[in-house]
Amino acid sequence: MEYDDVVMGRRSIRGYQDKPVPRELIEEVLKLAMRSPTSMNTQPWHFHVITGEPLDRIRKGNTERILAGEPDSREFRRGEPFAGVHRERQVDVAKQLFGAMGIERDDKEKRQDWVLRGFRQFDAPVCVIVAYDRELSGSDDTAFDCGAVTTALVNAAWSRGLGCVINSQGIMQSPVVREHAGIPDDQVIMKAVAMGWPDEDFPANAVISNRKTVDEAARFVGFED
Ligand SMILES: Cc1cc2nc3c(=O)[nH]c(=O)nc-3n(C[C@H](O)[C@H](O)[C@H](O)COP(=O)(O)O)c2cc1C
Repeated sequence: MEYDDVVMGRRSIRGYQDKPVPRELIEEVLKLAMRSPTSMNTQPWHFHVITGEPLDRIRKGNTERILAGEPDSREFRRGEPFAGVHRERQVDVAKQLFGAMGIERDDKEKRQDWVLRGFRQFDAPVCVIVAYDRELSGSDDTAFDCGAVTTALVNAAWSRGLGCVINSQGIMQSPVVREHAGIPDDQVIMKAVAMGWPDEDFPANAVISNRKTVDEAARFVGFED
């Protein structure tokens, strides 16, 4: 696959075939992703690649805690709730996804099902938990580096026919993930990545999210035109 095909073709995948992903393929994809640059080449990342029974226990634990109203226990800092243009973009993609899935605005049951799907890691055969070395947790570079490698991971996966969705839902109940994935205390849990073979018939998988334009995002300084 050409680079442009990977980048322009990739989109978040939230419905998967019930088909395992070979460990060797995930290792290949991780090897590609780990060519990402990091601050001073510190490579703060760790990947906990989970499938089968441990992943089912995480799905169950997440679902139970969410339904019991357990508060969010993410291990990293969050900003204020989105407002203004950021909130608009959040709503925009939600509308695209709900539209594709035929979920009406006031259909509480279907909306709840959709949310729980995220906490089940979208029923994907694999979930990769991205964590980082706790001793680097004071630096924003660490989060930057984890983001870089995770984007590289989903692109590398796409180039091999695998779909992914980076998600916070999977790590909102961090004690569940920490316990069932056996994540050591000297690592901080950053993000989850659901991974598997895309279900081509799952409507939300066809959604192409919007992007602001280069004109809106970039300024060019010192250029002649
Ligand atoms: C840091 C981060 C957290 C995300 N968390 C979630 C999530 O919890 N649930 C979800 O369905 N998608 C999640 N996403 C996926 C985004 O909604 C998606 O990447 C964005 O809408 C752009 O769409 P695309 O990936 O299809 O290009 C997350 C993505 C990132 C990078």
